[in-house]
Amino acid sequence: MSAAGDLFVADARAQPLVRAEVVPPWDADAWRDAARAAWRAGVAPERLIWEGDPQGGLIGATALDALPPRRPAPRVGAEFLSLAGAVACHRDPQRFALLYRLLWRIAGGAPRLLERATDPDVHRARLLEKAVRRDAHKMKAFVRFREVPGDGEAYIAWFEPAHRILDRVAPFFARRFSGMRWAILTPDRSAFWDGRALAFGPGGTRADAPADDAQDALWRTYYAHIFNPARLNPQAMRAEMPQKYWKGLPEAALLPVLMREAGPRVREMAERAPEAPRRRIPAPVPAPVAPAGGLEAVRAAAEGCRRCPLWEPATRTVFGEGPADARVALVGEQPGDEEDLTGRPFVGPAGRLLDRALAELGIARERLWLTNAVKHFRFEPRGKRRLHRNPEATHVRACRPWLQQELAALQPRVVVCLGATAAQAVFGSGFRLMAERGRWRELEGARAFATVHPAWVLRQRDPAAREAAYAGLVDDLRLLAETSLV
Ligand code: URA
Repeated sequence: MSAAGDLFVADARAQPLVRAEVVPPWDADAWRDAARAAWRAGVAPERLIWEGDPQGGLIGATALDALPPRRPAPRVGAEFLSLAGAVACHRDPQRFALLYRLLWRIAGGAPRLLERATDPDVHRARLLEKAVRRDAHKMKAFVRFREVPGDGEAYIAWFEPAHRILDRVAPFFARRFSGMRWAILTPDRSAFWDGRALAFGPGGTRADAPADDAQDALWRTYYAHIFNPARLNPQAMRAEMPQKYWKGLPEAALLPVLMREAGPRVREMAERAPEAPRRRIPAPVPAPVAPAGGLEAVRAAAEGCRRCPLWEPATRTVFGEGPADARVALVGEQPGDEEDLTGRPFVGPAGRLLDRALAELGIARERLWLTNAVKHFRFEPRGKRRLHRNPEATHVRACRPWLQQELAALQPRVVVCLGATAAQAVFGSGFRLMAERGRWRELEGARAFATVHPAWVLRQRDPAAREAAYAGLVDDLRLLAETSLV
């Protein structure tokens, strides 16, 4: 502790007890204001009693706001503020005292205190932070909205977080479900989104939220469909999806049955494995010859493409983008409005959703090559707008040499097809996306799989279906995250 810190500690022994209050008691900004005032008044941690902390008696304590400031505000750095933001939401009644001790030491002469992981206060604060982050992660994964009876456009979810994280997590739901009206009820507090602004109100009860609706059936169908008995790991499943959340999850009712049946289903799969496939597997695309001049030569040639009529109304050819040594190529369908205007693939709404899915899996977009099966935007003018139209088979065929030459020049180790058009351009027209998505296939010189297109996820109007579609996309892309290539 610095000389200045000692002065205040010595000084503090003569101080009466001081009481501080944080309202609402999970608000890191409110804690920050109180802590700043206490620091400025020179109130040492052992003299400061936080309301709600059972360790401290408040009788006779002076109110913090009665003390005049005696020194400048503390400097603590962004890492501490982020830690404090999470810890403030924890239910530990001593969280504010713990944070103030840390602040006192950091600002009083130990600016790198948080690097000392074995320090008891740092260790404790990190534990609380981790618990809150984990709780927020669970809330994002396990909140299930249900339609308000009689109002097809409003949704309510009931959730019981372990900590007071609603204010922290609600903006995530506002971003994800921005187009609908919803409420999330928790025992402490409720959050409301009217399509424009977030508001908060008192807590609710489970009975305030609708019990069941048609979307639950949809969730159950989806979950039963994606459940892979061969990958069943009950221990990991309980860790990821703790049983306390099961009562809010429509799919949870299926779990006991699916788990019971997993063994026999895996045995049946194993017995079936040697059988000849029932469906004809389309022949893989022959490996094209890599053009002289590499990717830049292909890009330059594609710029002047007139192989189909799409070039004319479009602004430009949107060629692939990424590092020339990318080991993974993602192939989409065709550029959209924003891609056509900027000349870059996947920069519009579908691209943003893809970015989110990649980020969730820890995959850096900058390391991937992103391209499309068709390199001109196909649209229909409607007033000032240009409405996306799916490319036809003739457009895909006309563009195929560009895709082939592009991949031949890049030589990726993995190709991921986003959506049926891309998958059929790469695997052949017999490819059936919904039956074969998320499964590795061999291409000449590379491995490949297909998943749904992010734009298809965005087109799901029902929020639960959209959420399920997004979860499916992330699940398929996990195959990519599991390679050592990204
Ligand atoms: N959809 C695609 O398939 N590609 C893009 O580049 C953008 C949206």
